[in-house]
Amino acid sequence: MRTTSTTAPRLVLAGALAAALLLGGATTGPAARAAERPGQEHTLADLAQRHGRYFGSATDNPELADEPYTALLGREFDQITPGNGMKWYATEPRQGVFDFSQGDEIVNLARSKGQKVRGHTLVWHSQLPDWLTGREWTAPELRAVLKKHIQTQVRHYRGKVFAWDVVNEAFNEDGTYRDTVFLRTLGPGYIADALRWAHQADPHVRLYLNDYNIEATGPKSDAYHELAKQLKARHVPLHGIGFQTHLALQYGYPATLEDNLRRFSRLGLDTALTEVDVRMQLPATEEKLAEQARWYRSLTEACLAVRRCVGITLWDYTDKYSWIPAFFPGEGAALPWDEALRPKPAYHALREALQTPRRGR
Ligand code: XIL
Repeated sequence: MRTTSTTAPRLVLAGALAAALLLGGATTGPAARAAERPGQEHTLADLAQRHGRYFGSATDNPELADEPYTALLGREFDQITPGNGMKWYATEPRQGVFDFSQGDEIVNLARSKGQKVRGHTLVWHSQLPDWLTGREWTAPELRAVLKKHIQTQVRHYRGKVFAWDVVNEAFNEDGTYRDTVFLRTLGPGYIADALRWAHQADPHVRLYLNDYNIEATGPKSDAYHELAKQLKARHVPLHGIGFQTHLALQYGYPATLEDNLRRFSRLGLDTALTEVDVRMQLPATEEKLAEQARWYRSLTEACLAVRRCVGITLWDYTDKYSWIPAFFPGEGAALPWDEALRPKPAYHALREALQTPRRGR
């Protein structure tokens, strides 16, 4: 009896408290709080985390001196990719002499903000150092050079990057292997070797193949599907496929993106949208920016709809530092923030896509 008389009021109290908390949750929960305080809204990273995804941006060392830029970079994103700092020309400028200062700067910045880092990239035909491109190599020589480069770099960033783009852009548009110094000298087996060497150097890091124009199904994406299947069958350590997702309004939206992501998931692989931008022919108009916003929304929805699409990375977040104008003359305005770091319609579309409750898989 004594117990009932003392616990009953407590239960009532607890019940009232729970009810008050529940009611309070509806009006003063995180969403409501954010709405009350403009400028304190949930970040893209917050919203992506609710779906178990990250939302990231590339960045590059020279931009880090721009304070408003780095402030937004540190606030809005939970993942960073160095745009150039971990490429071969930067990390091994002379044969056997390694320089990790640029990559380290970005890793340290990311760690101070609690952001994850994607390593980009170990093997690529572009932005190679002159000592490598300026001479002929025998197969044993180049094998040794490649192995040392991969393993020194992966070891250096062990525990500091969660994923590596091990081989970047290995295929042509028609699905044949891209003619590079690695293919010519070592044959297509260089891809499996690169993955194995990276895995030896860090058994915990996620290993990706990464490419552009593989968002829609077609010969190039089929080539990755076939290669991935073969590599998995041979137990080569491959964990994911990076879809760069450098889109352009004039070429149309890759409507098969979601299905394509899903077929790689079915092979037991992660996928990620690794270098997203949506460029347009300049000048940008209201219509083009609205269309661009729809594309950003759609590509985000596609990733969220596929369980193993683990995250989205913009190839930098502001038009101020986009690579597009320099590489595609007459094109630009590709990112969700404009040159003055003001959010564009694409930014709001990203938020909306991330705020939509999850669909089935
Ligand atoms: C770009 C960088 O953003 C530029 O600063 C650099 O001059 C060239 O490379 N695919 C990739 C990226 O995998 O590494 C490229 O980055 C963009 C295309």
